[in-house]
Amino acid sequence: MATIRDVARLAGVSVATVSRVINKMESVNPETAGQVLKAIEQLQYEPNAVARGLAGKRMGIIALILPDILNPFFPALARGVEDVAHKKGLTVILGNSDDVGLKESSYIKALKKKYVDGFIFASNTIREEDVEGLRKERIPIVLLDRGLDTASCAVIRSNNRQGAKLAVRHLIEQGCRSIAHIYGPQDFITARERLLGYEEAAGGLKGYSPSLMIPGNFDIESGRKAVEQLLARHSNLDGIFAGNDLMAVGALKALHERGIRVPEQVKVCGFDGIGLAEITEPELTTIAQPVYEMGGLAARILIEEIESGIRDNHLIELDVTLVPRKSTVKGGS
Ligand code: RIB
Repeated sequence: MATIRDVARLAGVSVATVSRVINKMESVNPETAGQVLKAIEQLQYEPNAVARGLAGKRMGIIALILPDILNPFFPALARGVEDVAHKKGLTVILGNSDDVGLKESSYIKALKKKYVDGFIFASNTIREEDVEGLRKERIPIVLLDRGLDTASCAVIRSNNRQGAKLAVRHLIEQGCRSIAHIYGPQDFITARERLLGYEEAAGGLKGYSPSLMIPGNFDIESGRKAVEQLLARHSNLDGIFAGNDLMAVGALKALHERGIRVPEQVKVCGFDGIGLAEITEPELTTIAQPVYEMGGLAARILIEEIESGIRDNHLIELDVTLVPRKSTVKGGS
């Protein structure tokens, strides 16, 4: 494989001149640049990507680290990131962290060695020291969905508290008075914000009781189990707001297993807006997050920082949308 020295020799210039041509520096006269490009073409020379990275040039690669690629919410987020990155000629490396801080740190360590140009993390476990460390090295990072407000970088997520209130108000409008909330893991800021929104909207209801709030794990099985416990506590339960669509699907399954009709007897609302919500029986009412837009916005902010330098922290909360379907409205939206 040809080296930069072979190109310099064939073009009759120095290695430094070849490097300046590769890195498109204006200080090379057009005739010399032409000779170098001809030699590169003739030798089929591939500039050493790591060397280019070492020279502080961009590698054209960004890393996207997600906490759970089996949850359909995250691939939709990744699609938004990748479509924007691809349009800008960037390659996206995808990693799965299982929301383990140490795993996230090892991704950062390994990918920094590959000279990635920037990181997007959907994480609430990423350590501030890792965020600060990257920014000190002028490597941009953007936190998506679960980033903490205190992070020193850009944080993009949905308005989770607004979304929870939308869900509860919709259930109340559909006639519910004993409304439960299956909440996600409280170390996730998204789940905490939804629980707060639920309490603000449902707290004044006559049928309200703290025992109507029950923990889940953002997956189908925990949603199913939560409904078993709720039905044992509240025989008059008539509404369920699940903190994400997967738990809402589990809730539908538990109600079906007990012959409880949805929405006639109990109405169910989820949160996320994943595709699965359109094919459940009945179709699931949900609070749709602007997932694709969130991913695209994160990529655009990261690319801006790669191109123009990193910025201070700022939180961007995007609006969510109520999508009424047959799990709360008889006959559908
Ligand atoms: O379904 C996964 C959940 O975790 C989503 O609601 C998303 O907001 C993330 O926090």
